Amino acid sequence: RRTERNIAAQVKNRLPQAMLDLLKAAGDLGQELGWEVYAVGGFVRDILLGRPNLDLDLVVEGDGILFARKFAEKLGGRVKAHTKFKTAVVILDDGRRVDVATARLEYYEYPAALPTVELSSIKMDLYRRDFTVNALALRINPGRFGQLVDFFGAERDIRNRTIRVLHSLSFVEDPTRILRAIRFERRFDFQIGGQTMRLIKNALNLELFSKLSGTRVMHELQWIMNEEDPLACLMRMEELGIMEAIHPLLKLSRDRVQVLTELVKVHNWYKLLYLEHEITPWKLYVLGMTMGIKRDQIQKITQRLHFTRREEREFLQLRDMIGDALMKLMGWREGRSKLSRLYSILHPIPVEGILFLMARSRKEHIRRNISQYLSRLRYLTIEVNGNDLEEMGIEPGPIYTRILSRLTDAMIDGRATTRKKQLKLAQKLHKDLSSHEEDSE
Ligand code: CTP
Repeated sequence: RRTERNIAAQVKNRLPQAMLDLLKAAGDLGQELGWEVYAVGGFVRDILLGRPNLDLDLVVEGDGILFARKFAEKLGGRVKAHTKFKTAVVILDDGRRVDVATARLEYYEYPAALPTVELSSIKMDLYRRDFTVNALALRINPGRFGQLVDFFGAERDIRNRTIRVLHSLSFVEDPTRILRAIRFERRFDFQIGGQTMRLIKNALNLELFSKLSGTRVMHELQWIMNEEDPLACLMRMEELGIMEAIHPLLKLSRDRVQVLTELVKVHNWYKLLYLEHEITPWKLYVLGMTMGIKRDQIQKITQRLHFTRREEREFLQLRDMIGDALMKLMGWREGRSKLSRLYSILHPIPVEGILFLMARSRKEHIRRNISQYLSRLRYLTIEVNGNDLEEMGIEPGPIYTRILSRLTDAMIDGRATTRKKQLKLAQKLHKDLSSHEEDSE
């Protein structure tokens, strides 16, 4: 019989006090209601791995939605319930979120002729999950707090650093699990187990992957791009023929691997320096994955990955802007060209595109210039606005944009660094620009 190891000491050592309080409150509430409550999934896995994870998933042997309501009442918070799935999210007043699911027994019926097997509902809940390492539960009711429920050898797999499915139909039921297997394997530096690898190859032979919808592929790709080392996952995908299974144009060529390697470096550099600026990693990496694809072919990819119209338009625009900027940057010479020129080349481009340009450029001085733009130039703003121009008696119209953009250039080049100088220059520009307009009429 299965023994339940108590890991309360590890739980207490490895979690912050606020999380322990939350677990205890959930366990106490379970006890009050007469239901067994478990922490499950990645949360438990990461306690054993010693990695901080504050995404708490609970499973209640009882009524998960009712539990969530009472929990929110008790701690202060609100509930979003999905009656169809008997799940709920508790959003606490301090912003923390707790997912609550219901362990349901009623879905599994056994023919009468079979001997009754003791199957607790938590076991059925865990059995539906992707990998053994994610199929752990932790009891949190008082008196049993910290008991580890491991039906499928998860602890052993964690010790042996193995990703293993729970049953042979796992990938047929859900082919996206193939990408999840790769993601966990690379993230934890585990190995996909032998039988599990055979099942993956089998699923690929059955072309289950080609039939997967673009939305689901893209969703998983996005998770991969949010990992510490997305390239490791992409290379594993290539090794297994998955890139080509998604679309033949996505084969990871050496050129792409090279740029993606630089992209990971540039991305990490950026994350470290500019914590406050969020970027969208997939926009960055999809640029690298699709490098070299001709303009008339690129829509095959955006359609395969089911981009929305808007995402597609923005992505194509981004590629065009990058191509354009690459040409212009070639002609820009430090010391000889104006900084305002560098600014005008880079300013229209979203930051993902700028980081891509940096990764693409082999020339050290171009990287340095882009870095200067990111660290300094992009933050510069003039101290004059449309209201000031109006107060000067300038008739509102397209001329505003022209004046303000020339003021920006002047300031970047160090010619009008104070508000006073900028106002004066605005007067002059107005005069020059309007007389110029009269000339051309
Ligand atoms: N799950 C699954 N099959 C999927 C997706 C999820 O069985 N295709 C299960 C897994 O058991 C997982 C749980 O649902 O533990 C929650 O999913 P998710 O939050 O994506 O997984 P985590 O393990 O928490 O992963 P991460 O550390 O990346 O958040």
